[in-house]
Amino acid sequence: MAQVEIRKLSKQFGEVQAVHEVELQAREGEFLVLLGPSGCGKTTLLRMIAGIEAPTSGDILIGGRTVTHVPPRARDIAMVFQSYALYPHMTVFKNIAFPLRTRGVEKNAIQEKVEWAAKMFSIEKLLKRKPRELSGGERQRVALARAMVRQPKVFLLDEPLSNLDAKLRTAAREELRQFQRNIGITTIYVTHDQVEAMGLGDRIVVMNKGTIRQVGKPHEVYQEPADIFVATFLGSPPMNLVEKDNVLMGFRPESFLPREVFGDNGGLECFQFAVTWLEDLGAERLVYGDVGLPCPHRHVISKIAASTPKALEPGKTYPFAVKTQDLRYFYKGTGGRIKGGGA
Ligand SMILES: Nc1ncnc2c1ncn2[C@@H]1O[C@H](COP(=O)(O)OP(=O)(O)OP(=O)(O)O)[C@@H](O)[C@H]1O
Ligand SMILES: [Mg+2]
Repeated sequence: MAQVEIRKLSKQFGEVQAVHEVELQAREGEFLVLLGPSGCGKTTLLRMIAGIEAPTSGDILIGGRTVTHVPPRARDIAMVFQSYALYPHMTVFKNIAFPLRTRGVEKNAIQEKVEWAAKMFSIEKLLKRKPRELSGGERQRVALARAMVRQPKVFLLDEPLSNLDAKLRTAAREELRQFQRNIGITTIYVTHDQVEAMGLGDRIVVMNKGTIRQVGKPHEVYQEPADIFVATFLGSPPMNLVEKDNVLMGFRPESFLPREVFGDNGGLECFQFAVTWLEDLGAERLVYGDVGLPCPHRHVISKIAASTPKALEPGKTYPFAVKTQDLRYFYKGTGGRIKGGGA
């Protein structure tokens, strides 16, 4: 049984169709990531699951029970927003205890549950401090502990790490994943950051313009994108696209390499790659250029390890290749994937 099931869920704000007939299931214990560009409807979808936004149509089931019209408090969910606010005048202990106190939980039980939640997020030593005496990462953990203290069935997170700097964010992401695995709570996590999505999700739900474009494991949405939107939203830099025989041929920058790298192997699509400029990223180099085919993104990019001995210079042309098994084809008009490979 799916822990969260969404049936034909839509939300209209006046003229804006924020969410359009979304069908989705989160399995019990799963970490599901909603990924998509700004304005695609992620927050609206999450808020409807939480019960703080009423759907225009459709249904939401949690644990097999229809909760579409059940108020948030009675849904057995916890939600953490990007702008999680801790109560500044309360200690960490009181902040975490707050959801229990408002529900009239008895004192000993509060003590026990706060200690449990604090331990989960490694903040046992901070319980007597006030929020202003904490780092950004510690505050974040307090917010997560406060949301979890009631031990809800479903955990909803809307870009909860976006206030943290890059380094803290990576650490917080790992902690969150660890915590989620430990207690096995069904989690729906919103982000527009594809790296975060790839690292966190058991499955990723790629959204665009209020609709779901693809649901799959991280390697599935990356390797077998359902359409051009998914292909170019995931990956940095995104999938290269060139026009060939009236279809779009796509290949990832890390698959597009100097011809000699492939040795004697057959099954290659070969190109003459006219290099225009290079970008050194430390461990990798990005090589920009042109393969003599129309290209909707203006250039084709190769991502090669900085340790690759080959000298490449702007203004010169080099033989490059992609394994044919790494080529993906899309319809020019709809952007849909052409299944079964060849053009
Ligand atoms: N209360 C509202 N009234 C009117 N329009 C709204 C309201 N809330 C959201 N929208 C619109 O609905 C669409 C989806 O918004 P939503 O906040 O769900 O996007 P999002 O995917 O969370 O974006 P972001 O990544 O920027 O947070 C947007 O076009 C937005 O302007
Ligand atoms: Mg949002």
